Amino acid sequence: MTSVSLLGSGDEPIVLGVTTPTAPVRVPTTRRYLMCPPEYFTVEYAINPWMDPTQPIDTALAVEQWTNLKDTYERLGHQVALIDPQPGLPDMVFAANSGTVIDGQVLGSRFRAEQRAPEADHFRRWFLSNGYRSVVMPERTNEAEGDFTWTGRYLLAGTGFRTDPSAHAEAQEVLGVPVVSLQLTDPRYYHLDVALFVLAEDLVAYYPDAFSPGSQRVLRRLFPDAVIGTAEDAACLGLNAVSDGRNVILPVEATSLADQVARRGFEPVFVDISELRKSGGGPKCCTMELRD
Ligand code: ARG
Repeated sequence: MTSVSLLGSGDEPIVLGVTTPTAPVRVPTTRRYLMCPPEYFTVEYAINPWMDPTQPIDTALAVEQWTNLKDTYERLGHQVALIDPQPGLPDMVFAANSGTVIDGQVLGSRFRAEQRAPEADHFRRWFLSNGYRSVVMPERTNEAEGDFTWTGRYLLAGTGFRTDPSAHAEAQEVLGVPVVSLQLTDPRYYHLDVALFVLAEDLVAYYPDAFSPGSQRVLRRLFPDAVIGTAEDAACLGLNAVSDGRNVILPVEATSLADQVARRGFEPVFVDISELRKSGGGPKCCTMELRD
């Protein structure tokens, strides 16, 4: 904070102006999302360290929390399309893992775990019956927006736990966008979207310790002004947030991350996703962005 003062006739300084560093005005853009109701959500297998099949799951509570997330998007003016959930696919609520859509081009997914493999074809059929004319199913293992994050300029692409590094080249070829590969190193942050999210073009938030030293350097070089999340922000899946350019939807526990984004001119919007977190998922995991 700086102030300019002059001495007037008395001893009291006359304060002419006080300037505080002002955050830019953030402008939201209307988004279209694809979501899947968690009607069959449960934790019956463990494919990441968050999942414990012996822990009780309250599916009704998951539905309530998910409905609140969907209502939040709609209240903010976004459109939400739905895909029918399927019995026997408890992780299908995590729609982000089933497609990457940029300029109407769809790259489908191919799951690493066999328990989730059938989800990919349900989404492929959803795209085809909803007007998408170019839907490419990958040859390489790729968990879509779980590991692919579009910044508006680059496709940041995670690898280390799920998406195969060779899927990065495949995504670049199919989507026609420059891919930047990033190495994930902490099994709790097994997907890129639990370690990093895009706030606005050229501005991301991330948790550095989830990445290899070389990938941390890449992120510092590309995004010198990034918001840096703490270990606590990461541990509540706070980095699994969704921004529309102004509003940032994030888990209610992510209070220090919320303070940081607020100081950058964004509007934090809290949601409770405690039940879905038992499967290792947060708001972003439930949300695929349809960039038509
Ligand atoms: N239980 C799911 C899995 O391990 C959670 C997926 C979360 N999705 C995400 N985009 N990070 O595959």
